[in-house]
Amino acid sequence: MKALTPKFPHLLHGGDYNPDQWLDCPGVLETDIQRMKEAKINCVSLAIFAWAKLEPREGEYDFDWLEQVIENLYQNGIYTILATPSGAKPIWMSEKYPEIRRVRPNGHRDLSGGRHNHCYTSPKYREKVRQMDTALAQRFAKHPGVILWHLSNEYEGECYCPACQAAFRRWLQEKYGTLEALNQQWWNAFWSHTVTSWEEIHAPAAEGEGGVFTLLLDWKRFVTHQVVDFVKMERDAVKAVDPSLPVTINMMYDYYGYNYSKFRDVIDVASWDSYPQWRAGDNAALAADFAFEHDKIRSLKKQPFLLMESTPSATNWWPVSRLKRPGMHLAASMQAVGHGSNSVQYFQIRKSRGSFEKFHGAVIDHYDGNDTRVFQDVAALGRRLEALDQVGNTTVAPEVALVYDVENRWAMENAAGPRNCGIHYREQILAHYRALWEQGIPVDVIDEEGDLNGYKLVVAPMLYLLRAGFSQKLRDFVEQGGTLVGTYLTGLVNENDLCLLGGWPGEGLQEVFGVWNEDTDALWDGEENQVDLDNGRSYKAKELCALLHGRGAQALGVYSRDFYAGEAAVTVNRFGQGKAFYIGAFLEQDFYRDFYRKLGRELEVKRALAVELPHGVEACLRENQEEAYVFLQNFSGARQTMALPAGWQLLSPQGLSPQGGGNSVTLAPYDSQTLWKRK
Ligand code: GLA
Ligand code: ZN
Repeated sequence: MKALTPKFPHLLHGGDYNPDQWLDCPGVLETDIQRMKEAKINCVSLAIFAWAKLEPREGEYDFDWLEQVIENLYQNGIYTILATPSGAKPIWMSEKYPEIRRVRPNGHRDLSGGRHNHCYTSPKYREKVRQMDTALAQRFAKHPGVILWHLSNEYEGECYCPACQAAFRRWLQEKYGTLEALNQQWWNAFWSHTVTSWEEIHAPAAEGEGGVFTLLLDWKRFVTHQVVDFVKMERDAVKAVDPSLPVTINMMYDYYGYNYSKFRDVIDVASWDSYPQWRAGDNAALAADFAFEHDKIRSLKKQPFLLMESTPSATNWWPVSRLKRPGMHLAASMQAVGHGSNSVQYFQIRKSRGSFEKFHGAVIDHYDGNDTRVFQDVAALGRRLEALDQVGNTTVAPEVALVYDVENRWAMENAAGPRNCGIHYREQILAHYRALWEQGIPVDVIDEEGDLNGYKLVVAPMLYLLRAGFSQKLRDFVEQGGTLVGTYLTGLVNENDLCLLGGWPGEGLQEVFGVWNEDTDALWDGEENQVDLDNGRSYKAKELCALLHGRGAQALGVYSRDFYAGEAAVTVNRFGQGKAFYIGAFLEQDFYRDFYRKLGRELEVKRALAVELPHGVEACLRENQEEAYVFLQNFSGARQTMALPAGWQLLSPQGLSPQGGGNSVTLAPYDSQTLWKRK
């Protein structure tokens, strides 16, 4: 497998480091290097917010301090992930060139300050960023200590300035060609919204157009396109100097302002910033939620990713800054590794002395010493990672794909539909995910652009919007022997948000699922129906209940209440060589648990371990041709013991000297243990 960072092909341990805040404090860098070595930190991310130090006055670059830092670190065995500083523009620049500041939907331009708030269309900002990125690359790309580009920081948000609006119109012109086509696809005859010139089109706004759903969808797609274009500009600037140095962008938890999958081909390495709000006690639900996010990021490139940021203790922006309970630093970090991360990186190495983040958790506290609980946790983790270095040559190779599609989410959450008080797409996705996670079944999270070949099972909940070609992929997948799970609200609209005619699920999926979904009943919060399944159990149904007519499918469960009592709620249909399940309602979690336990066994889907996992214990499998690792994390908050299947060795925290097997493994609260086997 190709290393993510070829110049330093190891598991990375480190984080954001901002020496630019300490340039007038001689001695800090020396202390920090000493502490980094003690904590087995081998890598830092530099210059993320350092533009004002890199270009103190327009056109006057000062990179000497950065060179000294990079060189000093390198001499001490610490590598650099170098950022381009476009995430925060210097005040002189935003005062001199107001057009680089963002405009709100109502037309008001932001004042200077803050961060992550530049206009991504502005030719001036692009020029400034391109010049800076080029200069940084010319000076540092070939430095042996610089292993990766960290383009900007957490790209986010939207700009509504005149330049962005004009670019949106050009994008629409390219997409639709003529106004007639646009009017027709946007269904603009409705409320007399027919546009007669491109200039009449404006981005959606609360005070303006908010009801043309295809406009909303196209705007979101355009924003993604424009930011991808900005990222490409940054990538091209640095790659022009040295194409071999890989680039990443650090993505965020559950961020769907942009469609991250469109960044897939622009970046070499996927990375993200993970800040779970762990509590005392049972954290199983939160662990499953973050496991899903790790899997989503890994699935972007279908190769290991980097955990670019996490807090060593707490953040300063949660409502309550709960510290990590003893052990949790280990469990949370190894969870990332188990799901495919080749790093554990923090925000940040040294705590800021002033301003917004002075109380944010950091490896080195204001106190400075190495005897804090946080520092010792970090150092212990550093030792573990060093011992597990070979894990970086393995990856996660699932047989199950879960389809989570951001465009589908935009469309569904925008639509005035059956449940405006909460359509709960992500919750429904997580209900399926959690049931798979509880069994230690590795899962890829793909979207409608994904390739279904090679999977045994495809789970595609609430596939409301069918993007071009996806229904055909599903059909082929099942026809050729795959198993598909679909649910209520599937196949309602095409990719331009126009309802599919001829009954739901549309585009031939009625044939695949063997059902026609005539209507969908929406329930108020607190209301319930019930589904009686052929396994003799009954499960509560909430929120949405599809009213189904069989078109060849066999009913596995029926509703037991209301005017549709006795009618099919869960079905299965044979189609070609495969089969397709349809789950008509949002059922209680026990349903998904029972359903996937049975289905997983039937299909003999790959599991990390062929044993029952105790509550809250996850099992993650990383493998290559020669060897396999299982990472067990206990998020239950209680001590747990489980069977250890034959063939697996328990590794000691020092790593690859196997402790030997017993018949069981015991995990203290928030413990993590690693198992190993040669294949
Ligand atoms: C984000 C940012 C960092 C820092 C952390 C604090 O992830 O990328 O710069 O502000 O949050 O949690
Ligand atoms: Zn703009």
